[in-house]
Amino acid sequence: MASQLLAYVAVLVFCVLNVSSLETFIAAVYEHAVILPKATLIAVSREEALALMNQNLDLLEGAITSAAKQGAHIIVTPEDAIYGWNFNKETIYPYLEDIPDPQVNWIPCNDPNRFGHTPVQERLSCLAKNSSIYVVANIGDKKPCNASDPQCPRDGRYQYNTDVVFDSEGRLVARYHKQNLFMGEDQFNTPKGPEMVTFDTTFGRFGIFTCFDILFHEPAVTLVKDFHVDTILFPTAWMNVLPHLSAVEFHSAWAMGMGVNFLASEIHYPPYNMTGSGIYAPDSPRAFHYDMKTKEGKLLLAQLDSHPRRSGAVNWTSYASGIKTVSTGNWEFKGLVFFDEFTFVELMGSTGNYTVCQKDLCCHLNYQMSEKRPDEVYALGAFDGLHTVEGTYYLQICTLLKCRTTDVRTCGDSVETASTRFEMFSLSGNFGTQYVFPEVLLSEIQLAPGEFQVSSDGRLFSQKPTSGPVLTVTLFGRVYERDLTPDAPAGLQQKH
Ligand SMILES: *[C@@H]1O[C@H](CO)[C@@H](O)[C@H](O)[C@H]1NC(C)=O
Ligand SMILES: *[C@@H]1O[C@H](CO)[C@@H](O)[C@H](O)[C@H]1NC(C)=O
Ligand SMILES: *[C@@H]1O[C@H](CO)[C@@H](O)[C@H](O)[C@H]1NC(C)=O
Ligand SMILES: *[C@@H]1O[C@H](CO)[C@@H](O)[C@H](O)[C@H]1NC(C)=O
Ligand SMILES: *[C@@H]1O[C@H](CO)[C@@H](O)[C@H](O)[C@H]1NC(C)=O
Repeated sequence: MASQLLAYVAVLVFCVLNVSSLETFIAAVYEHAVILPKATLIAVSREEALALMNQNLDLLEGAITSAAKQGAHIIVTPEDAIYGWNFNKETIYPYLEDIPDPQVNWIPCNDPNRFGHTPVQERLSCLAKNSSIYVVANIGDKKPCNASDPQCPRDGRYQYNTDVVFDSEGRLVARYHKQNLFMGEDQFNTPKGPEMVTFDTTFGRFGIFTCFDILFHEPAVTLVKDFHVDTILFPTAWMNVLPHLSAVEFHSAWAMGMGVNFLASEIHYPPYNMTGSGIYAPDSPRAFHYDMKTKEGKLLLAQLDSHPRRSGAVNWTSYASGIKTVSTGNWEFKGLVFFDEFTFVELMGSTGNYTVCQKDLCCHLNYQMSEKRPDEVYALGAFDGLHTVEGTYYLQICTLLKCRTTDVRTCGDSVETASTRFEMFSLSGNFGTQYVFPEVLLSEIQLAPGEFQVSSDGRLFSQKPTSGPVLTVTLFGRVYERDLTPDAPAGLQQKH
């Protein structure tokens, strides 16, 4: 009787503790230097595949236990972290496991044989349970199919690039099949429709997606707008592209533009320009890491609000549409930024007001440099059009950037260092979208936490002189509804 009562009290206390919600939590992301398998055209054995995956899991284990010891509630590990890439549909097969729907309520660590041979899920589950921490990982799912499904691939199975989450008891609580596969990801299939995967914790509501997904509406924007998540989990294997799509730059901008926490865990592989992890709050990055010099992994930790306060909606056209554009007579020129033809004007003085327009978009810049150096040229650019290389997506972009050399034909090229600091800047544009991501990138791919802000009328402006020389200040706008039908009003070209 007494022991029953004690047990009852214990359960009660446990439940009370369990439901008490936390105002803040500690997030961890691990930039993992992946051990790649040897490139092969013939599938290796399951044993060989497991041996390679366990080598990577040994390194992830070190990060997970270290994060837990430092008080982290959740840790995110990168896309492709457990087996790398360079596969076709056959050669990745020995690395895959059948991953059940989390509704089955499964703790692989306690019940490893319930869904066949699943040693990778078992190990991840035990790591989460043993360290009492949420573990986010990226693995491959396989789902057999047959002629009863007309879309069944010829080899009789779907294979998915999959994110999984195990809670602090080791339970599988989330499974997400990547929607927007990047070019060359032929080892995987696209799921039949975008999956909106969320789960609730005592430290907020989480949503999850991966890598290239961030450029599209589904599932990324819907998770924030309709499912009201507080924090996005983002395993990625991101190839940096300057000036606008370096990992730390773009991912931190998405967190600010969408008003969510964002946990980006990037593969560490400098030969492919893969580095740049971070823990980003909507108002500012809390931690970030960019390292092209070493081969080492890196664990980041930072405290975040469980429910970050969303600042009121920004009207991204309000300020700019109030500026009357007089023809300034500045000489305009074209320049390519990641294959997109921007319209530019050169910034001639150490201070000034410039406007540049392309199609429906006009961009305005007011700035003051610390000095106008003879060895550096900056330009203001506008782009309003469909990007079509390595993916198709409609962009509206206003950008201040450093040109690679003093020859304006290099404006838009990749450049990593600068010498010019800015005393102030204010950038705006009359965007035709509410999805605009504000980027500020300093020399040597550094972010500028706490140095800038966005006003409710749509200006990206400095709050103090920049702490370092400036590579770019950019408003990166996405016009999702124009991705398919760039030259016709949305809805007119629907297929029947
Ligand atoms: C978890 O802890 C148990 C007991 O402490 C140990 O036997 C087991 O090997 C651990 N598993 C992992 C994956 O660390
Ligand atoms: C085809 O697959 C479905 C499930 O996907 C299964 O229920 C069915 O038994 C399979 N049929 C054959 C003939 O294998
Ligand atoms: C990495 O970036 C540099 C400069 O931005 C570029 O020249 C190079 O081609 C990139 N490497 C790969 C593998 O994409
Ligand atoms: C944004 O501002 C513009 C110009 O001031 C105005 O015409 C428009 O109605 C505003 N949009 C919203 C959604 O408030
Ligand atoms: C630039 O414009 C702002 C307001 O739009 C004005 O206050 C400032 O004086 C202008 N600066 C120059 C150098 O023309």
